[in-house]
Amino acid sequence: MNREKYTLITGAGTGFGKALALECARLGHPLVLVSLPGPELSCLADFIRKNHQVPVISVETDLSEEGNCIALYNRIRNAGIRINVLINNAGIGGTDRFEKKAMSFYKKQLQVNVLAPTFLSYLFLDELKSNSPSHILNVSSMAGFFCVPQKQVYGGSKSYLLSFSGSLALELKKQNISVSVVCPGAMNTTDSLTWQNKKASHILKWSVMNPERVASIALKKMFAKRKVIIPGFWNNVICLLHRLLPEWFRVFLMEQQLKRIERKQDPQKQGLAGTVSIAA
Ligand SMILES: NC(=O)c1ccc[n+]([C@@H]2O[C@H](COP(=O)([O-])OP(=O)(O)OC[C@H]3O[C@@H](n4cnc5c(N)ncnc54)[C@H](OP(=O)(O)O)[C@@H]3O)[C@@H](O)[C@H]2O)c1
Repeated sequence: MNREKYTLITGAGTGFGKALALECARLGHPLVLVSLPGPELSCLADFIRKNHQVPVISVETDLSEEGNCIALYNRIRNAGIRINVLINNAGIGGTDRFEKKAMSFYKKQLQVNVLAPTFLSYLFLDELKSNSPSHILNVSSMAGFFCVPQKQVYGGSKSYLLSFSGSLALELKKQNISVSVVCPGAMNTTDSLTWQNKKASHILKWSVMNPERVASIALKKMFAKRKVIIPGFWNNVICLLHRLLPEWFRVFLMEQQLKRIERKQDPQKQGLAGTVSIAA
């Protein structure tokens, strides 16, 4: 039976989760990597085994199903694998008007962004207690702090993670389990996000970070038991401004942001403002 302590990362196949997995491997942590079924995860696991000589177990499963979260836990426990770091990274994003997406989309988004991290933290709690010092890192977002137009459900799910992590951190401190929440701003994790980020407004463009840099900051601060991790200078400036600005001005800025998004989504609207007639 393997007695090394493992770090479990969800959503490890691509994007930020992959960057976290590579950084953990560089630090020499044995890994359990979880992602949806697909070729990316086994490629990454092979790469890490060859280049970093750390043991890697990969599990392909859909975490939107409660039963799969339980099956993942049972599989790890039955294999005698000890977990002392749990990183809840898997998430479903999206930017759109509320009514444009189907209810089934929001259901899945909440299952992956809210229920899966909650269930996994619950299921692995005894494991983390017996392998302490242990750490939980939940991946929220800057969108968890603000009311961002067209990110209603996503932002709400990330606010939940902020609140959940803060409360759990207080409860688990005595058991030597730290709970951290990382709130990245925009990251260049996919081609489409990199493209969108290039076209963002000034301060948002300055705040864009590479996932590798965010992963390195997040892990360092998680091990230092920091509760809320805001990576990057500009993201901290944005948070500070948010606290200092009066509410009417924050609302004004967000309304401007909404207009920008809507103009981009519907180029025909550019120059047509004022000519739209309301059907009687
Ligand atoms: N990119 C950003 O700008 C940004 C900013 C702030 C916060 N975040 C957060 O960072 C995290 C990672 O995002 P990302 O940008 O790296 O996005 P991504 O590339 O789409 O990665 C999301 C990960 O979650 C996994 N996943 C999605 N649905 C799943 C499910 N039902 N079951 C199991 N795994 C599932 C995906 O698995 P597959 O690889 O198999 O598809 C993928 O590995 C998310 O929580 C996101 O909200 C991202």
